[in-house]
Amino acid sequence: MPLPINLSDMRLGRRISRSLAHVEDLLDSTLTFSAELANTSAHHLLAAGGKRIRPMLVLLAAELGERRGEDIITGAASMELIHLATLYHDDVMDDAPARRGEPSAHTIWGNNVAILTGDLLFAKSSLLCSQLGAEAVRLQAGTFERLVLGQIAETMGPEDGTDPISHYTQVLSDKTGSLIAACGEIGLLCSGAPHEYTQPLRSYGEAIGVAFQLADDVIDLVGDPAVTGKALGTDLKERVPTLPVL
Ligand code: FPP
Ligand code: MG
Repeated sequence: MPLPINLSDMRLGRRISRSLAHVEDLLDSTLTFSAELANTSAHHLLAAGGKRIRPMLVLLAAELGERRGEDIITGAASMELIHLATLYHDDVMDDAPARRGEPSAHTIWGNNVAILTGDLLFAKSSLLCSQLGAEAVRLQAGTFERLVLGQIAETMGPEDGTDPISHYTQVLSDKTGSLIAACGEIGLLCSGAPHEYTQPLRSYGEAIGVAFQLADDVIDLVGDPAVTGKALGTDLKERVPTLPVL
């Protein structure tokens, strides 16, 4: 399906950059707590950087609709907060020492605070989503259910008699593809874009998510920690059989 937006348009690039700066402000203010420990631990991963791929996808998808305004920024921040929440929990599960070039939260404050910080971020993502209406909350909750089920499937491994590679690709779709697909859909929803874009953008998001996670699994084996900001060999250490091993 042809897209009615020109991705090489400089004005589009500038508009997205300005909106991303607003998303950043909202993330920062949303994660401000009066309790000092919560404030510091919640800002830890946010301040460590990150590519902000998910909010960028929300903003780009929103270009397909007519409606402008704060909802799009809110949707973009909500999606990034889900992603950040999962990283706090994932680093506990993987016993990963570093993320984004910084020590992981659990190595600084312990597992309990790291897990509770992930919960806080998820709560804030849900609060932002509730400002967007019931459809957005349904999408966020359904996405989160899939993401957690993907993580459970990865933890359990394939059942006897099932193909380990199909199991692995389903895990990637569920734990990573689901959220990136939802980013496109939230962008469409917040901008009032036509429904005909929903399925193509969802398929695109799922595919990007699987490709991204495949690359991430290769990086776990051969990446340069100075560039990736993560330790090498975490999947091997935790005995998670990724595609290079399979
Ligand atoms: C990255 O995997 C992990 C995910 C994409 C999802 C993890 C989801 C959870 C831990 C559930 C979170 C639950 C709540 C309530 C917040 P990876 O280890 O392959 O990637 P990495 O190399 O970046 O660590
Ligand atoms: Mg991990």
